Amino acid sequence: MTSPSLTLIPDYIGPSTWWQHVPIAHWLMCEVKPQRVVELGTHYGVSFFAFCEAAAAYSKSSFLYAVDTWEGDSQAGHYEQDVFEKVQLHANRNHRLRSRLIRSTFDEAAQYFDDQSIDLLHIDGLHTYDAVKHDYETWLPKLKDDSIILFHDINVRERDFGVWKFWQELKANHASHEIANGHGLGVLIRGDRLPETIEKLPEVLPVLKSKGVLLEMLAERSSEGSFEKRLSQEEVNHLIAQNEVLRQESANNQAQLKNILNSRTWRYTKRLLSVLPDRFKRM
Ligand SMILES: C[S@@+](CC[C@H](N)C(=O)[O-])C[C@H]1O[C@@H](n2cnc3c(N)ncnc32)[C@H](O)[C@@H]1O
Repeated sequence: MTSPSLTLIPDYIGPSTWWQHVPIAHWLMCEVKPQRVVELGTHYGVSFFAFCEAAAAYSKSSFLYAVDTWEGDSQAGHYEQDVFEKVQLHANRNHRLRSRLIRSTFDEAAQYFDDQSIDLLHIDGLHTYDAVKHDYETWLPKLKDDSIILFHDINVRERDFGVWKFWQELKANHASHEIANGHGLGVLIRGDRLPETIEKLPEVLPVLKSKGVLLEMLAERSSEGSFEKRLSQEEVNHLIAQNEVLRQESANNQAQLKNILNSRTWRYTKRLLSVLPDRFKRM
C-alpha cells in the first residue's frame, strides 16, 4: 500500500529520540485524519511538528494541542526557557491556524478538554510505569470511543523506564500495533469504527521504518548546523573551563620558577656558570 505521506519531507528539525517514528505520524495524519490531536510531552517539538506538518499537507481541518510545562523532567533533563520560545516561535510562524501550545502540567490541562473529544492522544511525558499509567488513566475519558493512543518509549528497558511494562498490560486487551525500532512506539486502537486504512499500517510499516531511520540520520547531521547557538554555547563553556585549567597551570609554573630563581642552589649555580670557560657553559 502506498501513501502520499511517504513523500513528505520534514521542515522542522530539532533534537529528539522520536525521529524514527516521524513517518508514522505523517501516515496517521494522512490516512486516518484525526480531527483533534493532543500531545502530552513536546519538548523541542519534533513529534508535534511532524503531526502539524502532515495536518497542513493532508488534513487541513485537524487541530493539534501540545501540552508541556517546558521545564523538563528527571528523564528528559531540566531545561531553560529558550526551548519553549523556540517551539512557540515555530508554531506561531508555521502552524498558527491549526495548533495551540498549553504550558501546564498534564493534570492541569485535562480539565480543559471535554470528555469524548479527542481522536488521537500521544503520551510522551515522564516514562516511569506509574507516570505513564497515571497519564493514560487521567486522559482516557477525554478520548472518543473510536480513537488512537500513541505511547512513546515502549522499548526502553533500562533505568526507571516502565512504559514497556504498562504496554504489555494494555496490548493484551486492545487492538494494537507495535513498533520496536527507535525507542519503540505503541499504537493502541480503541473502538472498531476508525477509518479502515488503520488496518493497513502493518503493510506499510517496513517502508515507514526505513524512512524514519534515514530521517534520524539526516536530522543528526543537520542539527550540527541548526543548533549552532546551543552547540557553540557548549563549546564556549568548554573553552572557558580549559582556559581556567591552563591559567592555573601557568600560575603554578611561574611560582615554581620564582622559587627556583630565588633558591640558594640557583644563585651558586649562576655564579659558578659565570666563572666557567665558555665551552663548559654550552654543555
Ligand atoms: C520525552 S520529552 C518529549 C519528547 C517529544 N515528544 C519529542 O518529540 O522529542 C518529555 C516532555 O514531557 C514534559 N513533561 C513530563 N511530565 C510532565 C507533566 N506531568 N506535565 C507537563 N509536562 C511534562 C517534559 O517537560 C518534557 O519536555
